[in-house]
Amino acid sequence: MFVGKGGVGKTTLSTATALASSGKRLLISTDQAPSLSDLLTTDVRDEKVEVEKGLWAMELSLSKVLDMWKNEFGEEVYQVARAVADVDRSILDYIGTAPGIDEEFMLYFVMKEARSGNYDLVVWDSAPAGHTFRLLRMPILFVDHLNRAAKLYAKLRKPLTEEGRRSVLSIVESWRFLAEEIFSFLKDIEFVAVTIPERLGVEQLKRIKRDFEKEGLRIKLLIVNFVIEDASCAFLRKRMEVQRKYLRELRNLGLKVMELPMYCTELRDNNLLMRIGSEILKNL
Ligand SMILES: Nc1ncnc2c1ncn2[C@@H]1O[C@H](COP(=O)(O)OP(=O)(O)OP(=O)(O)O)[C@@H](O)[C@H]1O
Ligand SMILES: [Mg+2]
Repeated sequence: MFVGKGGVGKTTLSTATALASSGKRLLISTDQAPSLSDLLTTDVRDEKVEVEKGLWAMELSLSKVLDMWKNEFGEEVYQVARAVADVDRSILDYIGTAPGIDEEFMLYFVMKEARSGNYDLVVWDSAPAGHTFRLLRMPILFVDHLNRAAKLYAKLRKPLTEEGRRSVLSIVESWRFLAEEIFSFLKDIEFVAVTIPERLGVEQLKRIKRDFEKEGLRIKLLIVNFVIEDASCAFLRKRMEVQRKYLRELRNLGLKVMELPMYCTELRDNNLLMRIGSEILKNL
């Protein structure tokens, strides 16, 4: 999973990695302003599409996540909601908009793809850091919530039959199990953090590292992108000097570091992307 602040190269580098790897691959973007289509020759939507032999891509939109969530969990959620109040199925649309539902189930659907056995590699291009971290915290919050909810449901005053009460409790229990499964999936993800050698880049990266460590997640590789390696004019020399200081700081964070130069063109050329992707794969 590629994480990092906005505009540092997550989409470009995750696409490069997917292009350069072999076997059956899925490139999945959960950024709600996705741009896979700009890099790949085929239009990418919220259904999987084979963009080249062995490589599928998809942009997972929130509305798609909500649809899948309703399909898969709607009946259970409705049963539980009905146990607490007199509601009809439209309650699902309301619950679906609750904060956290989309992130929780985004993770769930990526986990399902990753564990389906259909792919040798799943590359995940995420949204800018703040949103991604919220997404990664979700299973923890969810388990927390369910622990409290289970107690609450157990004490329901609404005249539920014993059987009804048991079925609600077992649904809540199965959700807790699911949230724990998602949480353990998080620990299996190989995180690639991307940043730039500038003050904001360093600050954000330190924050990401701290947050990840707090949750027991490990960044496998740090890619420092947009490094100016060669300065032919005073302007670039100045910028290079500024970068030097931050590069030193990034190299000393105790992470495995890979540096990528700032190219004079946008990174859209397939051969160049493949070369960059191979380099990333070598470092993983
Ligand atoms: N090393 C590089 N040299 C030159 N241009 C680069 C480099 N890396 C990325 N770019 C360019 O920078 C722009 C932003 O890259 P990209 O879209 O991959 O970033 P992102 O982190 O996914 O952004 P967002 O957070 O908005 O999704 C693109 O135009 C890309 O071609
Ligand atoms: Mg992007």
